[in-house]
Amino acid sequence: ASMGGERSTKPQDDIFSDHMCNILGQLEDIFRKAVLVAYPDVSDPVIQIQLSKHADYQCNAAMALAKILKKNPREVGEMIVKNVAPGPMIEKMDMSGPGFINIVLSQEFIRQQITNVIMNGVTPPPVTPKRVVIDFSSPNIAKEMHVGHLRSTIIGESLSRLLEFLGHDLLRLNHLGDWGTQFGMLIAHLQDNFPDFATKSPPIADLQAFYRESKKRFDEDGDFKKRAYEAVVKLQAHDPVHIKGWEEICTISKTEFQKVYERLGVRIIDRGESFYQSRMEALVKELDDAGFLEEDDGRKVMFADGAGIPLTIVKSDGGFTYDTSDMACIKNRIEEEKGDWLIYVTDAGQAQHFKSFLACAVRAGIYNPSVTRVDHVTFGVVLGEDKKKFKTRSGDTVRLVQLLDEGLQRSEEKLKEKERHKELTPEEFVKARDAVAYGCIKYADLCHDRSRDYIFSFDRMLDFRGNTAAYLLYALTRIRSIARTAGVNREEIVAEAKKKPIELDHEKEWKLARTILKLPDVLVRITDDLYLHPLCEYLYEVSTVFTEFYDNCYCIEKDETGKIVKINHCRLMLCEATAQVMEKCFAILGIETVDKM
Ligand code: ARG
Repeated sequence: ASMGGERSTKPQDDIFSDHMCNILGQLEDIFRKAVLVAYPDVSDPVIQIQLSKHADYQCNAAMALAKILKKNPREVGEMIVKNVAPGPMIEKMDMSGPGFINIVLSQEFIRQQITNVIMNGVTPPPVTPKRVVIDFSSPNIAKEMHVGHLRSTIIGESLSRLLEFLGHDLLRLNHLGDWGTQFGMLIAHLQDNFPDFATKSPPIADLQAFYRESKKRFDEDGDFKKRAYEAVVKLQAHDPVHIKGWEEICTISKTEFQKVYERLGVRIIDRGESFYQSRMEALVKELDDAGFLEEDDGRKVMFADGAGIPLTIVKSDGGFTYDTSDMACIKNRIEEEKGDWLIYVTDAGQAQHFKSFLACAVRAGIYNPSVTRVDHVTFGVVLGEDKKKFKTRSGDTVRLVQLLDEGLQRSEEKLKEKERHKELTPEEFVKARDAVAYGCIKYADLCHDRSRDYIFSFDRMLDFRGNTAAYLLYALTRIRSIARTAGVNREEIVAEAKKKPIELDHEKEWKLARTILKLPDVLVRITDDLYLHPLCEYLYEVSTVFTEFYDNCYCIEKDETGKIVKINHCRLMLCEATAQVMEKCFAILGIETVDKM
């Protein structure tokens, strides 16, 4: 039942010739224009385009529009089709059902787009560049960096890579907890154990143990507790000796954090809570002068519509809180850093805090939601295989460095089990081991809906079957090896593509080509809601569709002796485009790829 309204819009120009096109977005544009030409009185029509089983894409705008116009949906559909401006993308359209418009992409357009990918790599869909300030990782000094911070680090790094690829200007900030009251007891403990810390760096090998010792004294020894309080006051008054002790402790912690970032390929700038001390002082005065603060049991609090719980801006002892620092911080990011998009990546447990300070920032006139985009990107808890909070056997929180070490060791075992060490050089083996270990940890996190809790399982993430980094990295090396086997290098494939667009013939070739071209739409979608798992699903889809293609289409033909008798260059081009797309996905996910594994 697909007749009527059939019409050809053959390619006439080459506006898409040098970048990848976000097809869904472009179609939406094309159809919005068509609707507005057909029905100029309709304001802001809803244009819904989706992938279709019958054609390539489907536009469902006619039904909703027919209701508004009190017309027959098929008639409306035909009117829309008639008014679609000719362009290079659409081969033909027809109607089915009550008024669905089926859209078939032009083959020439697909061939051109695939050829572009081969020549220019994956290029970003057009976006308006923004100044993005992204706050992620953000562990607390002297306390351990735990798996929650690992999630924030992995998600934040990947979002940063996504937005950078799209052309945004990123400021990646590590909002370290480096200014809390814990520094009082840490400095007091430092004075007792390393009295000459002002001149010699204290050799603290285990800062967390040091933290625990000082905490114990703080809880048990009244005198010590008093000294700890005095130390905080002196620190916040910038007494040089106390500042020195604070710096020493921060340095030890940051050096530890840096090791994790280096191993995971994370780029981030330290800008802890201490950075905002003077800004907090100024802000508190401002808020107080403007009459936003209320007395409550010796504290100064701030209410706002929609805040739920009020913020504690000044404690009864005069100190500032996490609330105060986030108020000063958002002011800095909007006013000084000129951020027009702020992103915070933290566990979902902080949702209330974010809701409150954002509402108060609106009330104080610091933040205007219609000018600045703010996203609190939340994630669930990491669980162990027993579905309880992720802990070591002895019940301690898992240290990140240990976790990464275990990942390396497990990855090594897995690769040896597959006898990879017999085929790879020692350097290649180490590269593969690292890529698989860190890639798996990242991918396991990113491929789940981040808002849910997720179960951390080395066994599962290192499985070489299914939707895992281990499988996908391996699949990519296989694709890369096809051209290698044929003795054709990338330059030759690119040169071929430059000569003339790729020819596609087999049904599975077309399917793979269409799948490759979906990437820009996936990127647009994940930029809307900042959920990364659809990108992982897409990456997995590409590799599955590639397998289908490869099982059905010879790229290289050999005779009985194993000698290559025929190379299908267009299929090698398709392999190249597939590899480009997969590599781009890995790059955005922050996963290192390897040539061999
Ligand atoms: N340090 C906090 C934590 O460990 C995260 C900070 C997030 N950033 C912010 N601006 N509040 O939970």
